[in-house]
Amino acid sequence: MGPKLNRVSEQVVPPSSDSPPPPDRTEVGVGPWEGPWPEGDHYDPELLKNGDRRNVVDRYRYWRREAIVADLDRRRHPFHVAIENWEHDFNIGSVVRTANAFAARAVHIVGRRRWNRRGAMVTDRYQHIHHHPDTASLVAWAEAHDLPLIGIDNLPGSVPLETYPLPRECVLVFGQEGPGLSEEVRKVCVSVLSIAQFGSTRSINAGAAAAVAMHAWIRAHVFHQSV
Ligand SMILES: C[S@@+](CC[C@H](N)C(=O)[O-])C[C@H]1O[C@@H](n2cnc3c(N)ncnc32)[C@H](O)[C@@H]1O
Repeated sequence: MGPKLNRVSEQVVPPSSDSPPPPDRTEVGVGPWEGPWPEGDHYDPELLKNGDRRNVVDRYRYWRREAIVADLDRRRHPFHVAIENWEHDFNIGSVVRTANAFAARAVHIVGRRRWNRRGAMVTDRYQHIHHHPDTASLVAWAEAHDLPLIGIDNLPGSVPLETYPLPRECVLVFGQEGPGLSEEVRKVCVSVLSIAQFGSTRSINAGAAAAVAMHAWIRAHVFHQSV
């Protein structure tokens, strides 16, 4: 009774005119609730009735979106993430998804309001997202909340992320493809941290850099690994 995971199997169906159509491999989640419905305001009657195909962990199956956000709010981590968006950076969706996975308190988009949501895979529905039209507005917000801005970029003068003691409460700021962190942002960051690279490319993708930096925070403050 209740939640029954029914992910589609990986079985390969050989193509043939007599074969049934191949299974829909995009279908994830659970079907309609079987048996008497569970009690609790956090359950969404529509999802219980029709099934829950959302990109959420099993703990949140059949929960209303507002209930999921409220539950996350009780245990979000005290780091924030900011990304510059002067040219519609395509990485923002992936940064939002990773921020959701690591329970960042909020994501701040600096510059243009519009951003490409595709890479977010709908995770933005469960994440607090603030928009700042310019750097001054991000700085004012960070000062009001007593949070240091920590730039992440491999610029001359950057110090290694791998050996830097990341503060528990902070805003990790990322630049965009091409220009990287703007001069304006660099000037207001207490430090700029680089991720060590060993190949021929000048940089990694901003979404990948954001994942590495957020996970460095998780290692330091959730797993208490010293640098
Ligand atoms: C593709 S990079 C562009 C700028 C880069 N400084 C360059 O010289 O090519 C875009 C963003 O990804 C992040 N990034 C990429 N590689 C990084 C690295 N090795 N260390 C730290 N941040 C990095 C930074 O936030 C940077 O602003």
